Amino acid sequence: MNKENLIEVVNLKKYFSVGKDKTLKAVDNVTLNIKKGETLGLVGESGCGKTTCGRTILGIYDATDGHVYFNGKDVHAMNRDEKLKFKKDAQIIFQDPYASLDPRMTIGEIIGEGMDVHLKISHKERQEKIDDLLEKVGLTREHGSRFPHELSGGQRQRIGIARALAVEPEFIVCDEPISALDVSIQAQIVNLLIKLQKELGLTYLFISHDLSMVKHISDRVGVMYLGSMVELASNHTLYEKPLHPYTQALISAIPIPDPSIEDGRNRLKLEGEVPSPINPPKGCRFRQRCIYAKEICSEITPELKEIDKDHFVACHLFQE
Ligand SMILES: Nc1ncnc2c1ncn2[C@@H]1O[C@H](COP(=O)(O)OP(=O)(O)OP(=O)(O)O)[C@@H](O)[C@H]1O
Ligand code: SF4
Ligand SMILES: [Mg+2]
Repeated sequence: MNKENLIEVVNLKKYFSVGKDKTLKAVDNVTLNIKKGETLGLVGESGCGKTTCGRTILGIYDATDGHVYFNGKDVHAMNRDEKLKFKKDAQIIFQDPYASLDPRMTIGEIIGEGMDVHLKISHKERQEKIDDLLEKVGLTREHGSRFPHELSGGQRQRIGIARALAVEPEFIVCDEPISALDVSIQAQIVNLLIKLQKELGLTYLFISHDLSMVKHISDRVGVMYLGSMVELASNHTLYEKPLHPYTQALISAIPIPDPSIEDGRNRLKLEGEVPSPINPPKGCRFRQRCIYAKEICSEITPELKEIDKDHFVACHLFQE
């Protein structure tokens, strides 16, 4: 275990049993690490396993195989006390803040709920902390007595963030935290997450299919395709020198605001659909959509290999 790493994920698998003798391989052999204080972005098309990966890291789902270490401790082999502590230290922010907030509870009750379980504080300290958190996420203490339906989408996501912060976590999985929000609000929420990370020394796994937003917030980025990690690199390397054909296609699909550049651009088009994770193709899972596919690609699954310092790619074009 590298001391810098808060999270180490080793050959993680999460399979779901779907019907008779059918297994859906939602996460298949994912290895990654997240350093203390950094943001790892996780991107990929819908259904490629981002949420399942995040939830299995948090222990919300049992792992089918593999390991997740949090501060060196195996998340799926913790005793009761360790599990309780981990549930406090590792939080999640959901995509749809409305569905995840109990409509019958006031905002103050929602934020205070986790504190009652995990923090030993007096009633007065609790109230001060709720007021303080509301201000930290850009609301006022008056919001504490309101109900979720009285707030806008952006305000509700601020409550989702305050609720996660209430138990003083080290690590937060942000699962598409801005996808349900108006475009005009999205940057505000991402900038709030960046500000809080700096203030509190938080570590994030930031899941999104919005590659521009991931670029804005992440230090490193992992690209998932059909349950596997196909490329993992620093933010700069991934966006400036993507190597995996899937990453190249995703990045070339990001619109550029300047029309003079946009018009002359050579876009790599991503054709076809993501195949089913129930019967994933043999060999490279991307091969049916890959313009560079060669014979070996249908036979052997390429492994994620470090082909340059801190730049990992799973593709036969880079493995001799
Ligand atoms: N509880 C479950 N039972 C069975 N299959 C599941 C379950 N949860 C997810 N899946 C399947 O696992 C695969 C990965 O789903 P997941 O939600 O992790 O993808 P995702 O990358 O988060 O997609 P999105 O961008 O749409 O949120 C999908 O094929 C999905 O249908
Ligand atoms: S391994 Fe082959 S099919 Fe897969 S991305 Fe690389 S070239 Fe394409
Ligand atoms: Mg998801």
